[in-house]
Amino acid sequence: EQKVLQVVVDPALCQGHNRCKAIAPKLFELDEFGHAHAVGDGTVPAGLEDKARLAEANCPEFAIKVVQA
Ligand code: F3S
Repeated sequence: EQKVLQVVVDPALCQGHNRCKAIAPKLFELDEFGHAHAVGDGTVPAGLEDKARLAEANCPEFAIKVVQA
């Protein structure tokens, strides 16, 4: 059984590297300063779990957490 995941960006850690959005544009969007936040409430649609994990692993600031929704 696939657990529902949620992506969370810590705004205090994000430095605008943009890797998250490049990897998973359906999960992350950027504000006018180039800082990321989750799309909607961060719930990861079925099939995008690997992208969420990849974004988490590729943020140089460790600003992204993937948690169980
Ligand atoms: Fe910020 Fe990391 Fe994305 S620094 S823009 S959360 S890759």
